[in-house]
Amino acid sequence: MPGVPVYALNVGFSVKKLSILQRVSLSIKGGEFVGVLGPSGCGKSTLLKALSGQLRPTDGQVLIGRADLYSGEKVPVDLMGFVPQDDVVHPSLRVRRELYFSARLRMPKAKPAELANRVKEVLELMDLAARHNVRIDRLSGGQRKRVSIGIELLTRPPLLFLDEPTSGLDPALEEHFMKLFRDLARGGRTVLVTTHVMSSLDLLDLVVIMCAGQVVFFGPPKDAPGFFGVEELSDIYPKLTASAAESLAGKFRNTPWFARLVSERLPGAR
Ligand SMILES: Nc1ncnc2c1ncn2[C@@H]1O[C@H](COP(=O)(O)OP(=O)(O)OP(=O)(O)O)[C@@H](O)[C@H]1O
Ligand SMILES: [Mg+2]
Repeated sequence: MPGVPVYALNVGFSVKKLSILQRVSLSIKGGEFVGVLGPSGCGKSTLLKALSGQLRPTDGQVLIGRADLYSGEKVPVDLMGFVPQDDVVHPSLRVRRELYFSARLRMPKAKPAELANRVKEVLELMDLAARHNVRIDRLSGGQRKRVSIGIELLTRPPLLFLDEPTSGLDPALEEHFMKLFRDLARGGRTVLVTTHVMSSLDLLDLVVIMCAGQVVFFGPPKDAPGFFGVEELSDIYPKLTASAAESLAGKFRNTPWFARLVSERLPGAR
């Protein structure tokens, strides 16, 4: 299956009077590798949940391909993989069993040989083959994270959401995994990651930069420092204060890039 496009049209999420996401509009093409950046608490995980069908927005629309995610249109369950920020794996299972059980749950119609093949493929891809017989609670944090990622790759979903998949990995592994996600995208998958790690951002096709629930930049990573008037992308964080969110979001909506986004990539988002 080729990567599927994802559109957010003026997505908002409020709890009581508290606004957690505001007017988020994005257009992600099939096969793009997209990073979601921003300070802790700015709404990255909430956005990923809204885009993946786990959290119904209080405003706006999410389209996965042509299907409106929250209007009751059917989106096939095996279309998406979601790696949450907190690992959900069974501590007492061994790695291969965890993967095998997950594969069986997700692909109830697949034959045992097919399941075993998928597990083998994921063990190799995640560099876990040597640890396949180790209990999950005896793995290092980074190894456990790799099991979580591997589980979501078992079904080879064309759309993959990963919430801070590289936190807790050493710098070499972090780069290795960002390259792996980039390669998955090059292979036709649409891949969205949130990250606080600033080192491999040039691998991304696009960055979404969030501040206090608003998108304050969406575009190629190389264009972001100029927008914020800084030298390096890693220098933007001090600019992303809650009091600056409104004016940064307004400035972004006045950029030629946003005009192009609306006219070329996001018809009807105004
Ligand atoms: N269901 C909810 N009810 C109330 N507040 C919520 C809910 N979900 C999220 N929030 C709040 O929304 C804000 C954004 O949370 P979110 O988890 O999306 O942030 P984040 O950008 O992923 O942060 P981090 O980088 O620390 O993971 C936080 O202040 C959080 O407490
Ligand atoms: Mg988060």
